[in-house]
Amino acid sequence: MPTLTVVTRSGEETSVEVEDGLTVMEAIRDNGFDELLALCGGCCSCATCHVHVDPAFKDRLPDMSEDEDDLLDSSDHRNENSRLGCQIPFTPALDGLKVRIAEED
Ligand code: FES
Repeated sequence: MPTLTVVTRSGEETSVEVEDGLTVMEAIRDNGFDELLALCGGCCSCATCHVHVDPAFKDRLPDMSEDEDDLLDSSDHRNENSRLGCQIPFTPALDGLKVRIAEED
């Protein structure tokens, strides 16, 4: 199974295997990382699944929707690598992706 490396706010790195069909947010949440609240359950309306994505994978990510862009604008911790985890389906092409859970707003 493809793996995703999750970096917590304190900098701890853990690699998890991701089942087919999950989003990055679901993979993080389902592996017990409680720093990622994902309050809206993945419907792109809360921004509590904010992650910073390894720039090496940027070209392999789906384009950002206007809604995602607007929500990320509401975060004080947005940077050029910011994405909402629920908007990234974890496909095999993303094997080895590393994401850091963004600071809480
Ligand atoms: S889980 Fe709410 S925007 Fe991603």
